[in-house]
This record gives sequence, structure tokens and C-alpha cells, in this order.
Amino acid sequence: MKKDFLCLTDITPEEGWKIIKNSLNFKKNPSKIKKILLEKNIGLLFFKPSTRTRVSFEVAINKLGGNSIYMTTSQLQISRGEEIKDTARTLSGYLDGLVIRAFSHTLIEEFAYYSRVPVINALTDFSHPCQILADVLTLYEMFGENIKKLKIAFVGDGNNVANSLMVGAGLFGLKLVVATPSGYEPNAMAYKKALDLCKQTGGEVEITNNLEEAIKDADVIYTDVWFSMGENAQEEKEMSLKPFQVNRELISKTGKSSIVLHCLPAKKGQEITEEIFEENSKIIFLQAENRLWSQMALLYFLFSNDNS
Ligand code: CP
Ligand code: NVA
Repeated sequence: MKKDFLCLTDITPEEGWKIIKNSLNFKKNPSKIKKILLEKNIGLLFFKPSTRTRVSFEVAINKLGGNSIYMTTSQLQISRGEEIKDTARTLSGYLDGLVIRAFSHTLIEEFAYYSRVPVINALTDFSHPCQILADVLTLYEMFGENIKKLKIAFVGDGNNVANSLMVGAGLFGLKLVVATPSGYEPNAMAYKKALDLCKQTGGEVEITNNLEEAIKDADVIYTDVWFSMGENAQEEKEMSLKPFQVNRELISKTGKSSIVLHCLPAKKGQEITEEIFEENSKIIFLQAENRLWSQMALLYFLFSNDNS
């Protein structure tokens, strides 16, 4: 049966850790990467722009011996109203897998339902599971098994990245607090999935409007843009989020020498100051680089028969 990766709940905690450990193996021994995608064609269908996800997937596919085909919706008949289910049934007749970035999460679920080949979620308005694999890899690379002892605080808009980070914390047994202004909390269904996973893994996930409590003793502060792709900037939202800007004062309130993660792209001066961004640029760009290795391990997991 084909395996899709639409949400982090599509993999078990054991499979998640296997992907993280394989990512590190690939990174340490790139010459030993097996060309498991030889003769395979993977399509990248993007309804939204991308720098990291698109390029890291194309390079990962290439390094695994496969061929990638990048398609924007404006070039396809989708732009003239061809239905998703017809596009899915057509493209899955040519391709061995698809990586899709879309607005609606339901769209990729529908696509996956009609596709005969695996579909990977490369971000929707609801979630961004591939990003979280790279984030966990980055923290695991830096802290090893102590990753489970870290207090991670996501501060800002309760968006797609926050939703997936909660599910990821549940899956990998991490401690996460998501702090947002009232009215901008992450998705309730993602929170429920996270709590269900926490029962299995010992993770802890909390949502709060109390910023000071959330960042107190935080080892890791994670932030993302206040206005995601496709969302119009609104003054009211910006005003509510202002106290959540990751700046010197916020960092000083953690009481620790916290590190800062950002999935990128960043809107400096809004969710993070230029100064804090530059101070943490080494880890932020390690996080960006790790998209390549974690997605390579994800492709390996989905497309190889090696499930040892
Ligand atoms: N973080 C991330 O997904 O970046 P892109 O939008 O550039 O792919
Ligand atoms: N929340 C952001 C993430 C970008 C990678 C967005 O959806 O635009």
C-alpha cells in the first residue's frame, strides 16, 4: 500500500525517530547514500512560493538518484478549472510520488485520495510537517537525547508551523508551550492530536496566552511570521502580536541562554529583531540546511523497501 505523509500522525514515534537518525547518517556519510530513486520521477506541485522546501526536495530527490519535475499551478490546467481529482489521477499515472504545497489542507487530502502514488505535504494553511522533521533533527543534532528535557516555547501566531510543532512535540515526546495572543491560538484538532500522542510518548504540550510564563526557563524560543502566505497583513493582528516579538527584552526574560529557531522566511522587525536573528543565524541556517537531510530520510522511508 502507498504511504502518504500529510501529517506527522502518518508516522509512528518509532518511525519518526528512525527518520531523524537516518537524516544524521545521511548528513555524516553522504557518499554512502543509496540511489533508491533511480528511474523514479517525483513531481513537485506548488500553489504557493517556496525557497527552502522546493530546492531541498529537488536536491534530495537528485541525491537519491531520482528526477524531479517542478510544477506551479499557473502552468497546469488546474488554473483553467481542471478538477483536483482529475489532476491527481492523471499525474499519478506518470509519476512515482508527489510533493504538494497548497492553501487548503483538504485539497491535498483529496489529491492523496485519488493519487495512486505517495503524496507528501510540503505545507498547507493547516500544517507544515516536513519543517518539523528538520527542527527536531536540528535540536537532536545539538542536544542529543537531552532534546526531551528542553523547554521549547513557540511564540507568535498560532499558524501552520505552530500546529505541526505541537503534533511533532507529541510524536517525539518533547516539552512545548505555545504562547499566542488571545484569538490567535493554534488549531484545536492539532492540539488534540498532540495530546493523544503525548500520552504515548511522555511529551508535554500546552497552549497559553501568558507569554511570561511560557518563556520562563525556555531553552528554545521558536517563532514564525505573523502573516502567513496568502494572508493579508492586518493592523489589529499586528498590534496583538507586538508583545510577542522575539527581541532582546523577551530573550532576557527566559532567564537562560536560550537559542532561537525560525523556520524562515523571516520578516525582521516584525516577529523577530534583526539583532536577535543575526545572533542566532548559525542555528537558523542549520535548521534550513537540515530540511535537505530530513526530507532525504523521509523520501527514503516512503520509497525504499528497507524498513529495518
Ligand atoms: N520554511 C519553509 O518552508 O521555507 P520555504 O517557504 O522557502 O519553502
Ligand atoms: N507560516 C508560514 C511558514 C512559511 C514556511 C507560511 O505559511 O507562510
